[in-house]
Amino acid sequence: MHRENLRIDGKRLRTALEEMAKIGATPGGGVQRLTLSDEDKQARDLFIKWLHEIDLEVMIDEMGNIFGKRAGKSTKLPPVMVGSHMDSQPKGGRFDGILGVMGALEVLRTINDNGIETERPIIIVDWTNEEGTRFAPAMMGSGVWTGKLDKDWLYGRIDIHGKRFGEELERIGYKGGRPAKRWPVHAYYEYHIEQGPVLEREKKLIGAPKGIVCLHWYDIYVEGTANQVGPTPMEGRNDALCAAAEMVLKVNELPAKMGGNMVATVGEIHNFPNSRNIIPDRVHLTVDIRSWDEGLAVSAWEDLKADFEGIAGRRGCPIRMEETWRVGHTPFEDRLVKRVVDIAEQFGYPSHSMVSGAGHDATYMSQVAPTAMIFVPSIGGRSHVEVENTRWDDCEAGANVLLHCVLQSALEV
Ligand code: GLV
Ligand code: MN
Ligand code: MN
Repeated sequence: MHRENLRIDGKRLRTALEEMAKIGATPGGGVQRLTLSDEDKQARDLFIKWLHEIDLEVMIDEMGNIFGKRAGKSTKLPPVMVGSHMDSQPKGGRFDGILGVMGALEVLRTINDNGIETERPIIIVDWTNEEGTRFAPAMMGSGVWTGKLDKDWLYGRIDIHGKRFGEELERIGYKGGRPAKRWPVHAYYEYHIEQGPVLEREKKLIGAPKGIVCLHWYDIYVEGTANQVGPTPMEGRNDALCAAAEMVLKVNELPAKMGGNMVATVGEIHNFPNSRNIIPDRVHLTVDIRSWDEGLAVSAWEDLKADFEGIAGRRGCPIRMEETWRVGHTPFEDRLVKRVVDIAEQFGYPSHSMVSGAGHDATYMSQVAPTAMIFVPSIGGRSHVEVENTRWDDCEAGANVLLHCVLQSALEV
């Protein structure tokens, strides 16, 4: 068959996604496959079984990143890498991350079935803990692999039950022997659902992001004075939750106040001791600020910090603020982004230039290798929810674009 006519098998891709969606399936139709949970292990085991079935060389590193390598004619030329993540949000969707890994697997299955020899090796990857929901920060696997995050710091990160990342990695049997250390990469492609409303609104099938917004994460700890809610008068209380409530609204108002293009969210809050008849004496909340304009995000934080200090002082609630993680805004490689657009056009798929508001491992990868992503529409713009959905035909279309991106790069000498 002429190479241009090569297509992935949409039915086989759907079957792989449906098999994976059984692991950690939730009653509401989504999945819960938190990083390093038993469900994450089960998905990893199945993934590795599938990698062996197509004779890939499987490698696991000390961050639990899983790689499957298909040899090229050359052993010297840097490989093409393609993949995403298999962990999910709590009550997450069936497409976030896993589409990129199963899409890459389908690409390799197709290349194998057609006996295509590429110049360069192709390496499929499942990065550990992209979500950052059980253990913060996000994109830990790619962050260490690219030399941007410190492995020992991450091994010590704890979840809300006090479990350590490093110990959980060992518990599920995925602390591999290989150093999590990058090798030269010719090109990295990540295929993903859009997770927002733009493609649907613009009636476009393929998104060609020019990059990813910056992500800045903070952890805020507020202290109050616990007391019996009945006998304690309203005056003079140091209620940590009330202070936190004011702070949450400040975060919500921040983008409008700053102007420009940014979003800011408090998504997680822990209130202690969390009893209806005790005045709260401790609150932990998270702040997530994102923008394409990194300077704007930084000054927004400075502004917010001053507001938080004011609230804490007025309410007599000492505050501690941690700058947990910052990853800069990421422009992708023009040449590869253009390739996504060109291939989409050859297929007759309308494409759209955009910016990704969601974080991806492509953020770290783009700091060490030419990188591009391919998006397909999210129905209703919903993601990180159980109803997250993408049409099967769209999944197939995006995977065909991925196939030809990967092939073009892997055939380059
Ligand atoms: C990653 O899932 C993100 O928060 O964008
Ligand atoms: Mn994702
Ligand atoms: Mn996600």
